[in-house]
Amino acid sequence: MWLHQGELAYMNILITGGAGFIGSHTYVALSEHGYTPIIVDNFANSRDSVIGQLVDITGSAVEIIRGDINDPTVLDQVFSTYAIEGVIHFAAAKAVGESVENPLKYYRNNVGATILLLEKMQEYGIQNLVFSSSCTVYGQPDTLPVTENSPVMKALSPYGNTKQICEEIIEESTRASQQLKSVSLRYFNPIGAHKSAKIGELPLGPPANLVPFLTQSVAGLRGPLQIWGTDYPTSDGTAIRDYIHVCDLAEAHLKALEYLIKQEKSPFYDYFNIGSGEGSSVLQVIQAFEKATGKKVNYEIRERRTGDITSVYASTDKSNKTLDWKAKRSLEESLKDAWAWQEAIL
Ligand code: NAD
Ligand code: WQD
Repeated sequence: MWLHQGELAYMNILITGGAGFIGSHTYVALSEHGYTPIIVDNFANSRDSVIGQLVDITGSAVEIIRGDINDPTVLDQVFSTYAIEGVIHFAAAKAVGESVENPLKYYRNNVGATILLLEKMQEYGIQNLVFSSSCTVYGQPDTLPVTENSPVMKALSPYGNTKQICEEIIEESTRASQQLKSVSLRYFNPIGAHKSAKIGELPLGPPANLVPFLTQSVAGLRGPLQIWGTDYPTSDGTAIRDYIHVCDLAEAHLKALEYLIKQEKSPFYDYFNIGSGEGSSVLQVIQAFEKATGKKVNYEIRERRTGDITSVYASTDKSNKTLDWKAKRSLEESLKDAWAWQEAIL
């Protein structure tokens, strides 16, 4: 059940990192459901062309402030220009490998900016915050599917550690405040693209993630896909992940926002797994892609990638029941949409 549009009264929602992969899809979902989304982004990992695509998809001008949310004057400009009712905080650096080489960039950008954002939200009396967390906080779970009660394990990278630290900072500062209501969403593996193929995942440089590398390989932009390890203790020897369509993920943010808005008491904090609830191996992803697109995936087998875990996929019972949200799109639909996006940007 969506909040009735009249209740939204075009509520202004700030999307930090809104020009990025997940942020841009959430922008569209917010717009389609009667919110007024406002983007702040420094375009550190996104292209300006996204903005024009958002105009095409939504048919409306895009409210955007270009800047680094680590800069207090940028947040002052945002919060003094717009009457913001809620914040969805996507802005972060997310490359696991880079975080190992340059941890301070990640702690500064991901943790430092979150602290400043919380301070500014309190200064301007803004109540509602949805935070982009990650299933990486679970490490390699002992039992699967992983639930929100599964233990948070020692992070496998500085990037993963920034997500754990930010969750703790948000929870503790929320509980200490009188006004904050916040939710952390632990995403699994977002893939796919908007049906229009006007927005999608646009990694700057060689993709580290499976699906964008796979589509670029099939498009002839990269060599054969490298399968990192076929000796995992799984049915086909390749590692298992929970792949979720980015549009299902975007819709989960609206449900989380509505959940917060409905909370009458503050302070309030909660957290949810946001995944498809299905585990798929790398070879199963390849087979699903070939079936969905009719394209052949050429691949080579390589040793395991350092830091990779064998298997993780979500129990989404809590988000199904509490947020009235469930992923609707299949793995094949996600891969079909990912390929349509790849073909559109060739
Ligand atoms: P993305 O890199 O596509 O988008 C992030 C956006 O934030 C980019 O447009 C970037 O320019 C912007 N940004 C980064 N630092 C900024 C700063 N200091 N000030 C202003 N803008 C800034 O990443 P994404 O895949 O859309 O991920 C969004 C969020 O979800 C991130 O917090 C990421 O850690 C988290 N997440 C992503 C995945 C995934 O697999 N994509 C999985 C779990 C969690
Ligand atoms: C998926 C599977 C690889 C590429 C990462 C981050 C996580 C989150 C999501 C930000 C693994 C295999 C991959 C390739 C391959 N990001 N693979 N060949 O590692 O589950 O999660 O992205 O929050 O924090 O760790 O996603 O897409 O990189 O890999 O065989 O070229 O595909 O080994 O088993 P991952 P991924």
